[in-house]
Amino acid sequence: MTQISVVEDPGAAVEERLSAVAQEGGHLVLTGGSTPRSAYALAAERDADWSRATVWFSDERCVPPDDENSNFGMADRALLSRLSRPPRVMRIQGELGFEAAAGAYDALLREHLGPRPRFDFILLGVGPDGHVASLFPGKPELEETARLAAPVPIAGLDPQVPRVTLTFPVLNGAREVDVLVAGQDKAQAIALAFGDSPDPEAPASRVRPEDGSLLVFLDEPAASAL
Ligand code: 6PG
Repeated sequence: MTQISVVEDPGAAVEERLSAVAQEGGHLVLTGGSTPRSAYALAAERDADWSRATVWFSDERCVPPDDENSNFGMADRALLSRLSRPPRVMRIQGELGFEAAAGAYDALLREHLGPRPRFDFILLGVGPDGHVASLFPGKPELEETARLAAPVPIAGLDPQVPRVTLTFPVLNGAREVDVLVAGQDKAQAIALAFGDSPDPEAPASRVRPEDGSLLVFLDEPAASAL
């Protein structure tokens, strides 16, 4: 099932879903980027009980966790460290370098969730080039099917640091994927990913949970080319 919602404040809509799922417990995936940050700040204000949840990450930049470019660091500052009843957190150790960090995360995923993880909830943003997580257009990581977490030696966008990313089999194995996008600069990418004729060159067009729901939350500018 794919459901596209065009709303005034997509961050607020996603926050409601995120807090509700976290309260139920289970395995959740957070993402980086500026749009999710607003949802995290709202979730911190709501301060639901996250203590039965385990939080993972869609991707990470290969920097230390306290670096301003760290996705974990952003989520920690905006949300995780502010919760009264925080979740267990499984972060990607970007500081190890892209190969070692990807290998360690792949092993952690297999240890806790087996060879075919089925996340309860995955949150993703979309970049202006149509990327999701750190799956950038034209890059070999898009075709990765064996690894759960892949090294990304060359990022497609700023910050130009190597990354680690979950791969499509993991994203598409989830029970629910919520995509959160705001802004006119994303309109073309959204049309290519979720319009009438999706373009496989846009990585977001490949987010299609095999046995789960896809909920896309857009503001008016992001939806303007649909
Ligand atoms: C990253 C993110 C990335 C992000 C999109 C959207 O590491 O950069 O995980 O996939 O979600 O780029 O980000 P914005 O909301 O900032 O546009």
